[in-house]
Amino acid sequence: KKIVLAYSGGLDTSVIIHWLKAHYNCDIIAVTANVGQEDELEGLEEKALKTGASKFYLAEVEEEFVYDSIFPTLKAGAIYENKYLLGTATARPVIAKALVEIAKQEGADAICHGCTGKGNDQVRFEMGIKALAPELDIIAPWRTWEITSREEAIDYAEKHEIPLKISRETNYSKDKNLWHLSHEGLDLEDPLNEPKYHSILEMSVTPEKAPDKPTYVSIDFEQGVPVAIDGKELGGVELIKALNKIGGENAIGILDMIENRLVGMKSRGVYETPGGTLLYFAHEQLEMITLDKETLQYKQELAQKYANIIYNGQYFTPLKQALDAFINETQQTVTGTVKLKLYKGNMIVSSVDSPYSLYSEAFATFDDDDVYNQGDAAGFINLYGLSSVIHAEMKKKTQLA
Ligand code: ARG
Ligand code: SIN
Repeated sequence: KKIVLAYSGGLDTSVIIHWLKAHYNCDIIAVTANVGQEDELEGLEEKALKTGASKFYLAEVEEEFVYDSIFPTLKAGAIYENKYLLGTATARPVIAKALVEIAKQEGADAICHGCTGKGNDQVRFEMGIKALAPELDIIAPWRTWEITSREEAIDYAEKHEIPLKISRETNYSKDKNLWHLSHEGLDLEDPLNEPKYHSILEMSVTPEKAPDKPTYVSIDFEQGVPVAIDGKELGGVELIKALNKIGGENAIGILDMIENRLVGMKSRGVYETPGGTLLYFAHEQLEMITLDKETLQYKQELAQKYANIIYNGQYFTPLKQALDAFINETQQTVTGTVKLKLYKGNMIVSSVDSPYSLYSEAFATFDDDDVYNQGDAAGFINLYGLSSVIHAEMKKKTQLA
């Protein structure tokens, strides 16, 4: 049997290699997808082979992650439960696709992942596999093995001399990529506990540690896609990295939330999304001046649907594809520059500019103008308010309260 394992080198997948070897007569092909987890990628090949994998792949999918998953979600303005910028949810389908490609290439029988049976990630991976290669078996050890907690997984690793980078005290369940870093578990499981920000933050600092002077940054967009920072053109990956740095230094994008998982329970997580938070905010400002009212407001409704689709693992569905078509159409004129002032966790709009702006000072001004006839408003309100007038007359006649 040949098994492709979604490998991160973290606690779960390190233990899994050993466990698979002990329970299946199999070859394990460890696959790590590079979605921008940087230092976490170091030494993975050696570690995977040492723990029992027969082969290791590093799938380079960072660009794909940015252009096929992050930017479409940004253009949609999709935010899960009004807070979460979907950093893990956007990466999973891209990783699933890479796993499937390698599984096919290797003629593997199954794909194995280290997600628990309680979370969202199992659903996202498996929805991707079902959509792209339904013939592949899926192995999810957390749903079947005798290990019942992260503590026990550490015990297993120690017993079998599997090297780990974490200790019991820092044993948060984390997911790191170019877009974000999530923290779950340990003391965070009790909402009474304030997160130990000073020790857990990696991409950002607390507002207390941010500079005492504001930082200005300007972001250029073309058709809803960010293309430059402070006038300097950058590819998506580099652009997000640069914004992570600027945002992180200014304590932007730190989120503590209790979210509704797909499987029904609420869970508490701390998220760091410095660059992403700047991009969503800037993109929203640009849409405010470039989209007409009806399109803007309709798009805001769809954004919630889109966020649910991404959160719930429905990336490879016809509805997702159809929504992308709609969203791309709305982005034709979302081109321009947004300048922001950052100060200790705050984002303040400094200016917005677009050649497609629908904002007209000539119409909006409180000063004298020669384009708008205020007299027109009286007739407009007579008809707009007609049903209210008729209703009021009925109430008077019938003495209805
Ligand atoms: N709760 C977030 C989500 O469902 C983050 C999940 C992080 N995953 C992980 N394996 N640590 O998208
Ligand atoms: C997991 O349970 O494997 C991580 C958290 C999640 O998937 O929601």
